[in-house]
Amino acid sequence: MIKGTFPIAKFRELETPFYYYDTKVLRDTLAAINKETGKYGNFRVHYAVKANANPKVLNIIRESGLGADCVSGGEVHAAINAGFPSEKIVYAGVGKTDKEINYSLDHDIFCFNVESVPELEVINELAAAKGKVAQVAFRINPNVGAHTHANITTGLAENKFGISMEDMDTVIEMAQSMNNVKFIGLHFHIGSQILDMGDFAALCNRVNELQEKLAKHQLICEHINVGGGLGIDYGHPNHLPIPNFADYFATYHKFLKLYPNQTLHFELGRAVVGQCGSLISKVTYVKQGTNKQFAILDAGMTDLIRPALYQAYHRIENITSDEPEETYDVVGPICESSDVFLKAVDLNKAHRGDLFALRSAGAYGEIMASQYNCRELPKGYISDELV
Ligand code: LLP
Repeated sequence: MIKGTFPIAKFRELETPFYYYDTKVLRDTLAAINKETGKYGNFRVHYAVKANANPKVLNIIRESGLGADCVSGGEVHAAINAGFPSEKIVYAGVGKTDKEINYSLDHDIFCFNVESVPELEVINELAAAKGKVAQVAFRINPNVGAHTHANITTGLAENKFGISMEDMDTVIEMAQSMNNVKFIGLHFHIGSQILDMGDFAALCNRVNELQEKLAKHQLICEHINVGGGLGIDYGHPNHLPIPNFADYFATYHKFLKLYPNQTLHFELGRAVVGQCGSLISKVTYVKQGTNKQFAILDAGMTDLIRPALYQAYHRIENITSDEPEETYDVVGPICESSDVFLKAVDLNKAHRGDLFALRSAGAYGEIMASQYNCRELPKGYISDELV
């Protein structure tokens, strides 16, 4: 089996499980994004901090010039701590609290992506109390489905996100009559792990319709934000570590009709960090079951919850064995039957103490870890510090 390259001797010195981020993959990915967006001039990418807020990872992303897309005050704080300039920070979320809004106002973030009328009223009030004007964009629910897992589609009318298309004009007019908010844009997001460019093209068509409708009322905004959602190839992290950014940005360039002086914003999370990260775990026991064998790892669903929560596939490699392959169910130590990473997978023969890499775990891995069963949170290392 073809495997990733890892500093195994260094890994042996570290306590497992831990996340390992290959900074070459991350920097190459960021360079690919900048190369593709550079072709268009008016495209701006904000990294979706929710995918991974490890400070060392955030730092590298900030160095590349991307902005930050946040969904909580904590994420705005993490972005500011990592040195993202406040004029590159956008903040979305259906339930922003007064504390989170005040914190973001104090830091003069670029834009609040507003998801409801009551939220707009609160931002206007809190900004007035500070004598500020908050820039706002409206998150519009475009009612566009995405061909991905039901738990991670967000752009359907039945989802809790955004303002419905019917209410759009009223809400914009309402904002324009308020003194302490400034309407600057429209925001959309249809889901995550999307690999069919047709889904993004469908969003473009919907945005075009909405923009035409608004233009009839002279409501043309400066910014269109189409969210994130570009997927990665979980099956082939070694062959295809960098997502197809060329096709992704070209799809928007081709299908989205921008008005003069409009800037197009993106909020990519998974596509930026997914492939650079692996969860490294040690085999605690190899156990013979009645008709199968289990490789029991010291990592569990508390460290990487995606397989248990979304039945997500993460490629697994035994990075310390070259012996002929055998078939294993790879499981964690947590007292839950769903604590299974992968069933019936062929891996180089496993022994107690072997290191396994769970690949493509850079996005929604470390950040979703929990302490269930009173476990410690996994640490995260970047390759730069393990040389
Ligand atoms: N913008 C908004 C408004 C979002 O809700 C999201 C993700 C993103 C951007 C970034 O999406 P991405 O480019 O990463 O697809 N925990 C799940 C994924 C949840 C995504 C939530 N929203 C998983 O592990 O698959």
